[in-house]
Amino acid sequence: MTINNAFDSSRPLRADADRLWMTLMEISTFGETVNKGLDRLTLSAADFEARNYLIGLARERGYGISVDDIGNLFIARTGSDPTLAPILVGSHIDSQPSGGRFDGTYGVIGAFEALRALDDSGVQTLRSIVLADWTNEEGARFSPSMLGSLVFAGHLALEEALGVQDAEGTSVRQALAVWQPDLPDSEYRLADFAAAFELHIEQGPLLEDTETDIGVVTGVQGIRWVDVVVTGKGGHAGTTPHIRRHDALAAASELVLAVDSLPPAVSAELRATAGQLRIHPGSRNSIPGRVTIEIDLRHPEATALDRAINLLSEAAKGVSERRGVKVQINERLRQSPILFDDGTLAHVSSAITSLGLTSTPMASGAGHDAMQLAQHIPTAMVFIPCVDGISHDEAEDIRPEWAINGVNVLLNALVEAANQ
Ligand code: GLV
Ligand code: MN
Ligand code: MN
Repeated sequence: MTINNAFDSSRPLRADADRLWMTLMEISTFGETVNKGLDRLTLSAADFEARNYLIGLARERGYGISVDDIGNLFIARTGSDPTLAPILVGSHIDSQPSGGRFDGTYGVIGAFEALRALDDSGVQTLRSIVLADWTNEEGARFSPSMLGSLVFAGHLALEEALGVQDAEGTSVRQALAVWQPDLPDSEYRLADFAAAFELHIEQGPLLEDTETDIGVVTGVQGIRWVDVVVTGKGGHAGTTPHIRRHDALAAASELVLAVDSLPPAVSAELRATAGQLRIHPGSRNSIPGRVTIEIDLRHPEATALDRAINLLSEAAKGVSERRGVKVQINERLRQSPILFDDGTLAHVSSAITSLGLTSTPMASGAGHDAMQLAQHIPTAMVFIPCVDGISHDEAEDIRPEWAINGVNVLLNALVEAANQ
């Protein structure tokens, strides 16, 4: 094996485009929907199948495999100097309930392909490279999102995370216990790593519209998740006169519209979404007694998010008084805007230059596990285009040539970081 610690950036390494695409297609079969999308909620049977598939590939290569207490899966390719801090790279393979095949999975399989390309090239980096598949990035089953990386970064206590329940009342602990992968416990701590990378699809239209190969991600906007719980009075749909009703869904509907009217009131850059309603008891002929609205707010500045929450609280007060319902606002996630590290982004830029690709600096509208890591170690993200900017939808798609470009950038950035 070549000890490649004098990496020559004029001769970049290249990964195997066909093998990358084949692996992406194979892992898409776990949780595939009829419309070629993905339904692979975290810690579901499909997620465990996809994890086991990845473990099988890693075993073939002889990589070190381990798992931590929140189910984060680690795959390590050993470097030549065990005294040096390793490099972390990763993303997630869980999906939205009606999601796409590439959000997250591209970052995991892309990083895995980069490790295999190092094997093929006979390169042994100085530092080890550790690939992570983070548990519950999406937050579609368990709230908050980025659960695995939140715990790994020490931003959420393990016990609290294990106790989180899905809509059916199953806890993370119970869901995780179904998976018995027969792997050693991981002993990684975030502070022990020298740097982190995440490769991802853009999930927006900018790169495709401008025909740009790569997005060099400078940061991620702030995120707030709040649950608005509206408690009215249940009753019989056929017998309760209008005048006596305190319909929680009618009240909640006003608040959904209040969420939709936040951007014009706060800032055109604000993204405000009421993405889920949980209606109790949820029967056509029973008046809704309780409704929970799950809301996602995003903006590059925390102060704008504060203003949005204040306006929502005022709207909630008005609805509560007018309709005689109780409205509670519970915060589920508070993520400050994040800036990535210039030094780590420089590895990405030098890889782009040596590969002769086009690129643009850009901010991420979506949240990523890299946000948690960036608060502790130098971190960078790389984006590739996706078709029509569509994500969190079965129609999400990428082209094989975009996919290999991103992996080649990651590969060369990893080698540079792992050899210094
Ligand atoms: C993750 O997919 C997010 O941006 O919510
Ligand atoms: Mn993602
Ligand atoms: Mn996502």
